[in-house]
Amino acid sequence: MKPLSRAVAKAERSQTLALSALARKLYSEGVDVVTLTAGEPDFPTPFHIKEAAKKAIEQNFTTYTHNAGISELRQAIVEKFSRDNDLHFDSSQILVSNGAKHSLYNTLKAICNKGDEIIIPSPYWVSYPQMVALVDAKPVFVQTTEADGFKLTAAQLRRAVTKKTKALLFCTPANPTGSVYSQEEIEALARVVEEADIYVIADEIYEKVIYNGAKHFSMGSIPAVRDHVITVNGVSKAYSMTGWRIGFLGARKDIVAAAEKVQSQITSNASSISQYAALAALMGPEDELRTMAAEFLRRRDFIYRAITSIPGICCHHPQGAFYVFPNVSAYVGRTFGGKRMNSGDDIAQFLLDEEKVVVVPGSGFGSRDHVRISYACSMRELEKAAERLQRGFKKLQ
Ligand SMILES: Cc1ncc(COP(=O)(O)O)c(C=O)c1O
Repeated sequence: MKPLSRAVAKAERSQTLALSALARKLYSEGVDVVTLTAGEPDFPTPFHIKEAAKKAIEQNFTTYTHNAGISELRQAIVEKFSRDNDLHFDSSQILVSNGAKHSLYNTLKAICNKGDEIIIPSPYWVSYPQMVALVDAKPVFVQTTEADGFKLTAAQLRRAVTKKTKALLFCTPANPTGSVYSQEEIEALARVVEEADIYVIADEIYEKVIYNGAKHFSMGSIPAVRDHVITVNGVSKAYSMTGWRIGFLGARKDIVAAAEKVQSQITSNASSISQYAALAALMGPEDELRTMAAEFLRRRDFIYRAITSIPGICCHHPQGAFYVFPNVSAYVGRTFGGKRMNSGDDIAQFLLDEEKVVVVPGSGFGSRDHVRISYACSMRELEKAAERLQRGFKKLQ
């Protein structure tokens, strides 16, 4: 039989989704497993958003919509970008898609030719390199360091740019490190972007999950690079709406038109009902967002203290998103039950086998020295997790 697609064969499945599925399976089999893999808030979607969706069904808003999204939602996104991000679009510059993931893929498909290079600061979100590979472009990783707060510097970006560079994939607040770039750091990167004349795909999905007075800044608000930046955001993380699948982007008209063309032939519009729910989210009160962010802060402080109290573990102090990314390399080389820990991945497996606690191995994010812990779970689960992690690492000492 004829072979299937080489590009797809080379791409990997999402490790995070696979681990979440494994955790669900163990749980359904009655195993007392603590899962720290979730890439989604554990709060219910706010009431007024759910009501808007019910109303949309009752009013029969159940047909195809404009491919780019209903006009009211695109207008609400225009206002959101202007209000929160100092980004000024008209509604023809907005494309609503099936989650920010879809927005990112549509963008890559719209701008990339075979062999184009996309710069990805490492550690990175698991899906970036896979998406880049799926559009036949080439991921170029730039290693950031814990000492630099896992942030790409302007000098590193300058060194990474070649004639083939098409874009920088830029995420702040970042998954998996929780790093948040300051305005000055972003301005320094923007100067290189302008000089090199490359695009920036700015993934701002964690914009609302930010702590300690850190302020989110959008690179697209810098006039000199406004036309270079494609800003991607969505309602998944901010409004606890991961299952509704609404993401969006704002960009230069021709980029949006190209991304919209891709979407028109692949999925058409995002769910009509979810679009009305997203409209209610963007137009509604924000007090529940603040409650969620305050709760995430409490949990971050707890798990950060617990993890850094384990001898040998150091951990970048996250300022946003809902992950900690501890460096467990001090435990590489240790053995347990005759098995040597060769990397963070082995340690993640050991923690699952021995302590029934599921963390995501760092290799999927570009580091074999780390594991990712999500604190998007209840305080009770986190307390249980902390106990198990402390006990687990003790067994390796
Ligand atoms: C950095 C980053 N970007 C984008 C997404 C995708 O979000 P959505 O659920 O809107 O597709 C995620 C989800 O985990 C993420 O972590």
